[in-house]
Amino acid sequence: MQNHRGEWSSKLGFILAASGSAIGLGNIWRYPYIVGKNGGAAFVVIYLLIVVIIGLPYMLGELSLGRSSQKNPVGAIDAIKPGSAWKGVGYLGVLTGLGILSFYGVIAGWTVGYIFKMITGNPGDFAIFISNSVWVILLFAFFIFITAAIVHGGISGGIERWSKILMPVLFVLMIILIIYAVSLPGSGAGLRFYLMPDFSKIDGNVILAALGQAFFSLSLGMGLMITYGSYVPKSEDLFTSAGYIVFFDSLIAFMAGLIIFPALFANGQDPEAGAKLVFVVFPELFMRMPAGTLVGAIFFLLLSVAALTSTISLLEVPVAFLIDEKKVHRKRIVWIIAGIAFLLGLPSALSQGASPFFTNFGLIPQRLADPDFLSQMSFVFGDLSLAIGALLLSIFIGWIWGAKFAASEIEMGSSYFKKFLKLWIFMMRYIIPISIFIILLNLFGIFN
Ligand code: PHE
Repeated sequence: MQNHRGEWSSKLGFILAASGSAIGLGNIWRYPYIVGKNGGAAFVVIYLLIVVIIGLPYMLGELSLGRSSQKNPVGAIDAIKPGSAWKGVGYLGVLTGLGILSFYGVIAGWTVGYIFKMITGNPGDFAIFISNSVWVILLFAFFIFITAAIVHGGISGGIERWSKILMPVLFVLMIILIIYAVSLPGSGAGLRFYLMPDFSKIDGNVILAALGQAFFSLSLGMGLMITYGSYVPKSEDLFTSAGYIVFFDSLIAFMAGLIIFPALFANGQDPEAGAKLVFVVFPELFMRMPAGTLVGAIFFLLLSVAALTSTISLLEVPVAFLIDEKKVHRKRIVWIIAGIAFLLGLPSALSQGASPFFTNFGLIPQRLADPDFLSQMSFVFGDLSLAIGALLLSIFIGWIWGAKFAASEIEMGSSYFKKFLKLWIFMMRYIIPISIFIILLNLFGIFN
């Protein structure tokens, strides 16, 4: 029975796949613009604290639940508390995966478009490009198609091998770009903005943004790590693996900031420009560089690949759920779910100028998210739903299943974990749920 679900072939394979899920647009596109909007360095400090104090222990919780039950999020919860309403948290995760995939795929489509734009040597105007509904929808469809094709064929072979080669190339390319960006005249102001904290800029909304970004970037709060954890053999060390995943993910995000902010200040652009930041700043940087069109095309290619390893994981959650629980065939269900994600993404695709209705959607108040449909989806699924999911899952793991059972699952295969066991239980039961709860209360204006 166990084999039909599959297992990671090695510890490295697992770390790469989970890092592939974590590293994506969240690190290179979303992180810099959120840092820019929330005041720079002070946000970075809060973000890194949240990653270590909440993200890492919480990730271990999801992984342990997955490995112990060998199931998708709904099945894992149902195995521990059969027939209870807790299953709803699993469903929320499945829905969130679909919701994120819908708008994430649109942005991933833009990155593919920019590969070609860089090759032509004239990136043109970003706002005009994303308001062109035909191109945007075609590129989005293309991206969802590739994602589904890979999930259709199984993930282990192709994508693991790809990540192994392409992730290190992305890393090296980013190092080169950092060196180039910090050598630009005027870049010092960018480094100061990014690295010298001004804590007067911190308020409740900033902390929520940091928490949301941490969960989004680490692929937490929707059961992805439950699903990926369910493919980890018992003999493996979840503790050090989680440490690597968190480290790689934060490193890539941090490096993206070291490129963007120096380049941005050197060009005299506005760090608060929002979601378009990467698509405006990077091409301008490339156009000034020697061999810039080639470097630019490679950069956007690798960014697309990083996004692809994330969209695969987003699609895998609903797919794994339907395979486990509804006993459907992977090969058929993949295309149905991908089709739904595509339809769900169309309003986002049209919300950057093509359709005035979706561009000024504005259901969620302005103080929380920009009015366009894509930003609103990003807030609802990429911030709010992940935070609520993580709150409920941490209560489930810490109290309903029991942190002691979770801890003994983590202990299996990890000799280091013993030293942190008591601390981890305390974090899982108290610190994580309480801090997420306070941040959510603040979001709804309880403290104002
Ligand atoms: N972590 C991914 C990124 O940063 C996005 C993602 C979120 C993927 C949740 C899976 C689950 O790009």
